[in-house]
Amino acid sequence: MRMVDLIIKKRSGESLTRDEIAFWIDGYVNGIIPDYQTSAMCMAILFKGMSEEEVINLTDLMEHSGETLDLSNLKGVKVDKHSTGGVGDKTSLVLGPMVAACGATLAKLSGRGLGHTGGTLDKLESIPGFNIAISGERFTNQINSIGICIAGQTQSLVPADKKMYALRDVTGTVESIPLIAASVMSKKLAAGTDAILLDVTLGNGAFMKDINQARTLAKLMVKIGNGLKRDTRAVLSNMDEPLGMAVGNALEVKEAIAALNGQGPEDLMELCYTSGSIMLEQAHLCRNQMEGRLMLEACIKDGSAFKKFLEMVKAQDGDIEYILHPEKFPLAKNIIPIYAKEEGYIKSIDALEIGLSSMTLGGGRETLDDVIDMSAGIMLNKKVGDYVKEGEVLCYLHSNKNVTLINRVSKEVFNAFVITKEFVEKPKVILEIIQ
Ligand code: URA
Repeated sequence: MRMVDLIIKKRSGESLTRDEIAFWIDGYVNGIIPDYQTSAMCMAILFKGMSEEEVINLTDLMEHSGETLDLSNLKGVKVDKHSTGGVGDKTSLVLGPMVAACGATLAKLSGRGLGHTGGTLDKLESIPGFNIAISGERFTNQINSIGICIAGQTQSLVPADKKMYALRDVTGTVESIPLIAASVMSKKLAAGTDAILLDVTLGNGAFMKDINQARTLAKLMVKIGNGLKRDTRAVLSNMDEPLGMAVGNALEVKEAIAALNGQGPEDLMELCYTSGSIMLEQAHLCRNQMEGRLMLEACIKDGSAFKKFLEMVKAQDGDIEYILHPEKFPLAKNIIPIYAKEEGYIKSIDALEIGLSSMTLGGGRETLDDVIDMSAGIMLNKKVGDYVKEGEVLCYLHSNKNVTLINRVSKEVFNAFVITKEFVEKPKVILEIIQ
């Protein structure tokens, strides 16, 4: 078998057999098939798609490209959640401790930023000392003692996705339903949890731009998970505007800390309450989602969710002084306000533009080896549906980059806000639930 022939086969729109996919994935993981051939294959898949059978085979082969975790010794129903990515999406940092505080066992392997979207691992690493490189044994021990661990994939867990995820990020091959489904589900299945809640983001800041695509992706992943006896459900959430107010690693961690202390933005909290109540139901910790929601609201009010986050940060070597005193997070040298030039209602905030701008300000990677500036990003001051007066601040840019670059980004960010005289209703964050 030759990889070039498989690329041409896929490029012609034909289906790959399980053996052919295995040849590619094994060869890629073992370094026999180079990055450039995998890039070409990913691009062919992006254009030509895959059948359901191909996606199931790809997911299974990726899942078994390395070790898998056996969580059967852990007590309780083990739950996991995964978002397909967005702008300002710090949900895991808030939702994880919330469900764990309610008694769920949260075992989560997270990823890094992909394209214009941020990644939970990068966000967590903005907490000084925070260790995401946790061995399988430490992962299970931590979950057994405090009920939560959010770690990175080690090299040994789903190495196929680890390599491919970074490659897709820099080769324009992220937005493919089969590749996203296999990437997400291979990791979720390898992590060995009993239940999985998927947050499929939808809108111009997400990889899925329309509801039909998002629904197709969600249903495909739910089918793969349920087919393998994991209780898998999905929410479709709005990513037309950034989630919450903060975009950028340390800025988002600070927003997550505020949220755990009861001061979270409405859309972020709604997403956490809805997703969390489904997860508590999946974990058999409540009779129905209504009861689950009350439990989640209580764990924010009584401080137990915040306490759980502190426990997790401590267990993973993070400096809890930063969590207790978030003002310790270093601020970027330049904090530049962007002003409204007219009054009216905010009609839209282009999440993709905000994500890309945050990346350019230093908050994301443009190539594989780029180092992220944890303090960089954008702090919104207005959301869709808010009223703004002329001269009021729409958002603040945080950056350590030079003035020329910041000026260029300022214009793009200004254009990301559309203001209208007509009343604009606040958009819903939960668009659909698939369960
Ligand atoms: N999240 C993932 O884990 N993988 C993707 O491909 C996209 C989003």
